[in-house]
Amino acid sequence: MKLGVNIDHIATLRNARGNIEPSVLEAALVCQNEGMANGITTHLREDRRHIKDADIYSLKKHLKIPLNLEMAVSNEMLKIALDLKPHSCCLVPERREELTTEGGLDVISKQDYLKDFIKELNDEGIVVSLFVDPDLKHIEAAKEVNTQFIELHTGKFSNLFYNNDKSGLEYEITKLKQAAQLAQSFGIKVNAGHGLNYNNVYLMKDIPDLIELNIGHSIISRAIFVGLKNAVLEMKELIK
Ligand code: PXP
Repeated sequence: MKLGVNIDHIATLRNARGNIEPSVLEAALVCQNEGMANGITTHLREDRRHIKDADIYSLKKHLKIPLNLEMAVSNEMLKIALDLKPHSCCLVPERREELTTEGGLDVISKQDYLKDFIKELNDEGIVVSLFVDPDLKHIEAAKEVNTQFIELHTGKFSNLFYNNDKSGLEYEITKLKQAAQLAQSFGIKVNAGHGLNYNNVYLMKDIPDLIELNIGHSIISRAIFVGLKNAVLEMKELIK
């Protein structure tokens, strides 16, 4: 499996002092060293609580590996993405009061709008992924809007793992597997992410043919103790 490193929390730390360190670009450049991250992910939130507009333009300019821009389905973000032209956009739901992205995109109720939104991005050569819960109804809808990828939301899986809820976890893994298989039967490629860490990530190998895992919080947290390079290499080793 490929590894996409989410570097939003480098910006969270930087913004705590409103200064320039640690540098988001420097972190991304460490991650892109040979044999490390396959891509860099950043979420430009509507409230700009971590990543800022200048960060994504600087990343786009200097990165050699793909830049994946997570963003809300809004006209403001569409305009930015069409101007920036990242390798890919992962469309996520966004609520201002949430700590992090707390649920998958409602693909069903937004179907018509999403179809046009995705087409506009695709027309500029930008690959699109939809961040969805492992819910078959949303996977069916994802097919209708012509997305190239889905990213399965593993937040619930991660919480069940953390709480050592074995039966709940087994059920959630079955749902993730079924969702992945249905998407793949439609020709949609499947990524996964959210809450994945050094303890639970091995279970992602049970889900067939995942292309990429997007991991942020655990890698940046581990980097405090072992350095960013080692934190990325350790994760890479676990998912190979
Ligand atoms: N994928 C998506 C779509 C996300 O919104 C996030 C969190 O920003 C992640 C992956 C990474 O989650 P975590 O920081 O828990 O690894």
